[in-house]
Amino acid sequence: MCGIVGYLGPKPAYPILIDGLKRLEYRGYDSAGVATLETDGELRIEKKQGKVANLESHIGANLPQGTVGIGHTRWATHGPPSDVNAHPHAGGKGRIAVIHNGIIENYEALRGLLTHRGHDLVSETDTEVLAHFIEEVQTSTGLDLPDAVRTALKEVIGAYALVVLDQTQPDRLIAARKSSPLVIGVGQDNEFFVGSDATPIVAHTKNVVYLEDEEVATMTRSGELTIRTISDAAVTPAIQAIELEIASLEKAGYDHFMLKEIFEQPKSIRDSIRGRVRLQSGEVHMSGIDDHWDVWSKAQRILILGCGTSWHAGLVAEYLFEGLARIPVEVEYASEFRYRNPIVRNSDVVIAISQSGETADTLAAIRLAKEHGAHVFGVCNVVGSSIARETHAGAYTHAGPEIGVASTKAFTAQVAVLTVMAMHLGKRLGTLDDATFMRLMTGLDNIPGLVQKVLNNAAPVEHIAEKFARAENALYLGRGFQFPVALEGALKLKEISYIHAEGYPAAEMKHGPIALIDEAMPVVFIATQDEVYEKVVSNIQEVKARGGQILAVVTEGDTKVRSLVDHVVEIPKVHNALAPLLTVVPMQLLSYHIALMRGCNVDQPRNLAKSVTVE
Ligand code: G6P
Repeated sequence: MCGIVGYLGPKPAYPILIDGLKRLEYRGYDSAGVATLETDGELRIEKKQGKVANLESHIGANLPQGTVGIGHTRWATHGPPSDVNAHPHAGGKGRIAVIHNGIIENYEALRGLLTHRGHDLVSETDTEVLAHFIEEVQTSTGLDLPDAVRTALKEVIGAYALVVLDQTQPDRLIAARKSSPLVIGVGQDNEFFVGSDATPIVAHTKNVVYLEDEEVATMTRSGELTIRTISDAAVTPAIQAIELEIASLEKAGYDHFMLKEIFEQPKSIRDSIRGRVRLQSGEVHMSGIDDHWDVWSKAQRILILGCGTSWHAGLVAEYLFEGLARIPVEVEYASEFRYRNPIVRNSDVVIAISQSGETADTLAAIRLAKEHGAHVFGVCNVVGSSIARETHAGAYTHAGPEIGVASTKAFTAQVAVLTVMAMHLGKRLGTLDDATFMRLMTGLDNIPGLVQKVLNNAAPVEHIAEKFARAENALYLGRGFQFPVALEGALKLKEISYIHAEGYPAAEMKHGPIALIDEAMPVVFIATQDEVYEKVVSNIQEVKARGGQILAVVTEGDTKVRSLVDHVVEIPKVHNALAPLLTVVPMQLLSYHIALMRGCNVDQPRNLAKSVTVE
């Protein structure tokens, strides 16, 4: 969703804001803007539809000079992308400027009130309403800015991370959060940085304070940081050191973040299992489970919650947990779970999967599960994220920052961690025999090397992509462990190439999708050699009989499927529970190459956002 950056300190704010906006552009990219307090006291607001580069060319050589400022990249919610709807938004008197991420639910009521009081709102956004409302409260009550912000926010319903700049207060910056994340960087020399996540901050300082819900922070030029809740309780800022390295936020010579992240998977999977899979002692470790063994040992059901690619990782986990630990599993879209009066018992264990740890639906779903008494375990990638902090226990995936909007290395890291969890549970519960456990452990330890092998041999995928690049539809089919991979393959293609793609269980094809198959329909089969291999071969025959063009991902040395289909990509032979970690890689590369051939923006596909912090 929207990206937020702020600066207060001795240096010119603009270069810091622009650099931060470029790093945040993966979150939202339909418009960008900055507001600075200039040395002559002017509140200068510059904003432009389109990418950050458009904003830069709009500003040209007349760079802002002020040493306090705010910046924003937008992902439109209220009102289409346009210059006027871009943030920052000014209050009616042009004295304050506000940037905001989230949704103000009662904005229409507030807008009506403001219009009644003579305010003239020029945009369609909820944020402009917020700017006018804060200014109105301040003018009518005469309160000091932080108090005016807190008073105004008492009346606001919805989600927000916001930063307020006031022309009359060049030495202060105010930030507040509810449900949308906000991080404050505490630099040297009385400097403060604000970010919707740590990416615009880490180049300047590693000391951060994560604002909690309903907290309002005041930063001053003399280096003071005070935090009060909306209901006026004082909070002592807890400064934490973050481990994020700036190099991990760069493309490192790759053309796109997505390609870099696909190629990072041998390392990210290795990092995610390191210390957890201990080959020498023949053990796996998962302290987040062991520390709560009383709950896990009695779990009657595992409920897995997630969205998008994380939901697909949850589907893989369903096969893993049921197969290895024999615990019934349900996988739910977090967005559906939260609104359907779900049945959750205190004998349930809930696993929330989220790369960002900030997805609003997943966060709301775990809050609901907690209210029902369930034990909630988080599988998150972003350290210190809201979901990581709000779960009872968890296991981080150590994939490193994922910047490409289409998730790749986060998926394989999630599946790797979930595999370790299922193995650990199976072993402790006695449902997994020692021989299979050892086979899986050795197999998992070999996976990073085998992913590297798949990447090294991936050249044919680019040629196959040429054949499929002009398609307007595609079907992805798989069974068992490969069904979620089919869904993920289809999602990757949709997300970045805008080709309509469906993932289906291969056998389900005959109940509908088969009607779509003709010579123009590419069909991707994941047909690795496992217990459903022969069944998948039959499904391939059914497609072939109807003229579909077939790409099959097969096990090394396969001849049967090869003789039936138009194109094959081979993956090494592994235990079927581990195969998704390999078969997804050609899916990712296929989408990447097709998107490039279609001239799409691979890292920033239209309409999507990396971290979906609104419902
Ligand atoms: C967005 C992203 C997807 C991601 C989903 C869930 O839609 O574009 O790539 O899978 O959110 O995000 P999360 O951070 O919770 O895994």
